[in-house]
Amino acid sequence: MFITFEGVEGSGKTTQINLLCHYLSKKNIEFISTREPGGSPIGEALRKILLSDESRIDPKTELLLYLAERAEHIEKVIKPNLQKGKIVICDRFSDATRAYQIFGRQLQRNVVENLIEFATDGLEPDLTILLRLDPETALSRARARNSQSLFSEGRFEAEEIEFHKRVYEGYETLARESRGRIKVVNGVGDKGEVFQSVLKVLVLCGVVNET
Ligand code: TMP
Repeated sequence: MFITFEGVEGSGKTTQINLLCHYLSKKNIEFISTREPGGSPIGEALRKILLSDESRIDPKTELLLYLAERAEHIEKVIKPNLQKGKIVICDRFSDATRAYQIFGRQLQRNVVENLIEFATDGLEPDLTILLRLDPETALSRARARNSQSLFSEGRFEAEEIEFHKRVYEGYETLARESRGRIKVVNGVGDKGEVFQSVLKVLVLCGVVNET
């Protein structure tokens, strides 16, 4: 089972993934947790380039780098672990490319979809949890977190609010288009409450038996 978490910056994905990993470990369920950009040595090197706030990357270059790291990640990490029968949990995947590069950067949708298909050989998650948090609240959380971090990954946090609103609306559109796969979880509330909602989705989708 391939499960991804998505949402705008600061929506709480990483916290929820950590809680899920803890839960699965306690239940002795085999899984790996990975992320994009990143997840493989080449992917982590590209992450540094993609998220550094030192340079403005051309939107087409940016798209191709995300897809390059994804192709590598799928071959080296995602597919081998799925083949071993493990649950693969990934912090962002192709929906992030759709939300950020199509809706945020406003690149042409059919072109990007074709490139995604090429990079992934059509691999899509079995289940995607979209954490819904309004972009203003989420962004102020992300900026606060980034200001405390030693390594700056602030390129997207620095984008204007209009960009983040387009990304948010992009995710909402994707969720409406793929209701079977993308399940929206309300990201408002404390992390324990949000995790209970995540677990409910996982139970409904048959990933775990009970909460
Ligand atoms: P994160 O660590 O919050 O997930 O940050 C990753 C950033 O990269 C986030 O701003 C979204 C962006 N991103 C894209 O623009 N396109 C993509 O395909 C992926 C995976 C991430």
